[in-house]
Amino acid sequence: MNEKQLHELTAKIKSKSSDKIDIQQPSLTNAKQRGKESVNYNREFVIPREMKNVGVGKKYLIRTFGCQMNEHDTEVMSGILTSLGYEATTETTEADIILFNTCAVRENAENRVFGEIGHLKPLKLHNPDVILGICGCMSQEEAVVNKLLKTYQHVDLIFGTHNIHRLPQLLQQALMSKEHVVEVWSKEGDVIENLPKIRRGGIKAWVNISYGCDKFCTYCIVPYTRGKERSRQPIDIIEEVKDLAKLGYQEVTLLGQNVNAYGKDFEDKNYSFANLLDELRDIDIPRIRFTTSHPRDFDDALVDVLAKGGNLVEHIHLPVQSGNNEVLKLMARKYTREQYLDLVNRIKLKIPNASFTTDIIVGFPGETEEQFEDTLSIIKEVGYDSAYTFIYSPREGTPAVKMEDNVPMEIKKSRLQRLNNLVNEITATKSIEYQDQIVEVLVEGFSKKNDQMLSGYTRKSKLVNFMGPEECIGKIVKVKITKAKTWSLDGEIIENAIEV
Ligand code: 5AD
Ligand code: SF4
Repeated sequence: MNEKQLHELTAKIKSKSSDKIDIQQPSLTNAKQRGKESVNYNREFVIPREMKNVGVGKKYLIRTFGCQMNEHDTEVMSGILTSLGYEATTETTEADIILFNTCAVRENAENRVFGEIGHLKPLKLHNPDVILGICGCMSQEEAVVNKLLKTYQHVDLIFGTHNIHRLPQLLQQALMSKEHVVEVWSKEGDVIENLPKIRRGGIKAWVNISYGCDKFCTYCIVPYTRGKERSRQPIDIIEEVKDLAKLGYQEVTLLGQNVNAYGKDFEDKNYSFANLLDELRDIDIPRIRFTTSHPRDFDDALVDVLAKGGNLVEHIHLPVQSGNNEVLKLMARKYTREQYLDLVNRIKLKIPNASFTTDIIVGFPGETEEQFEDTLSIIKEVGYDSAYTFIYSPREGTPAVKMEDNVPMEIKKSRLQRLNNLVNEITATKSIEYQDQIVEVLVEGFSKKNDQMLSGYTRKSKLVNFMGPEECIGKIVKVKITKAKTWSLDGEIIENAIEV
């Protein structure tokens, strides 16, 4: 392509004007308003007839950022695109449609996305027919959408977390109009069932149990980007898990921003997360996990169900965020350090071999050295197997953004380092306890670091690498730990123990 052609193409792309079509833009202010309206269960998803074969002979690529919820949304979008005839590719140059499923939880994740979108501009210049789309949590933010429309003119399609089921129609508009297509609903109310899914692998599966969050922790953008809390009907979840069991899946992870609030929105029944787990226990699938828990909604009924064990694994991800009461109050976490520790002790009492992991934010606005030390001490007191640690990132539209922050970035970084050192120390000590133990490993495939070895996870999510026959993949085997490292364990398979 010569200089002139390149110039013309650039002009063609730039001529896309967003005001020529109906734009439904996001609004954090609207998202904040929680109505009392009932949840609609929409089971009417169909691929429009005229779109059925639109992707035949074409390819799609989805880049996923952020949490498991996003990973699972990508599986749904893959399902929709496959139903349209598209095939998956991992090469941007081969793709006819490229979607970025984005995360808005921290600023650095957003910057990475902007960087990557920028890198796609030459590709769009060379192949103007490729559709570039942005979806996920970032597209729910007005500031992001405005920036995309203004500065990233090569983006064709922007749609929100509540608009995924509209992908066929939105894609149709993008293909036909050559204009920017933006559809982001700020208000939701629906649970959409029957969406197609292409799951990654046949061993572990994600299952949504609820969407959205009503907790409004002051630092968090999720209640605005994912909307109000709404639970799927128990029967839909149970049927999905039964189907996965029939298909041979070995593990299910139940997903929700706050799984412990499951069912609180039901108007016609009293049915909690504990009730759901109790029913799922009876399904013949070896492992059931869930994420994420909010300590405030973790009740005794749930502890009692988990204590029954079986396919409910004894690993609990229980974000604490801070060990200091004043900070917890500013974060609006709605529990105290003492209440959190009491919960952990109640769980430990009923499930003595339970393992805990957590999320922690350091450098919350105004956090003092003493307050930070309370976080260090709670880490020691609980003895987490591992922790996800973050420096507080101000998110536009959240209450914490307005809080005075006199903590210099240097201090925040050094606190993160100190915190990570402590977490690593505890993780290493906990790992040593595995030496010579026999553990059950769900084998997922060959080790990423050494393709002579197999690798998989224990019930408590500890990574194990070991020599063994390929037939073990997809099965649960018993492995004796021969070497305990901080982040993983090496072991040897115990003969004649392929199926536990
Ligand atoms: N800054 C830093 N970390 C955050 N998290 C959520 N919002 C922010 C923020 N603004 C962390 C919390 C949460 C995890 C998913 O991300 O620890 O549990
Ligand atoms: Fe964010 Fe708090 Fe909801 Fe978790 S519980 S998604 S941290 S608002």
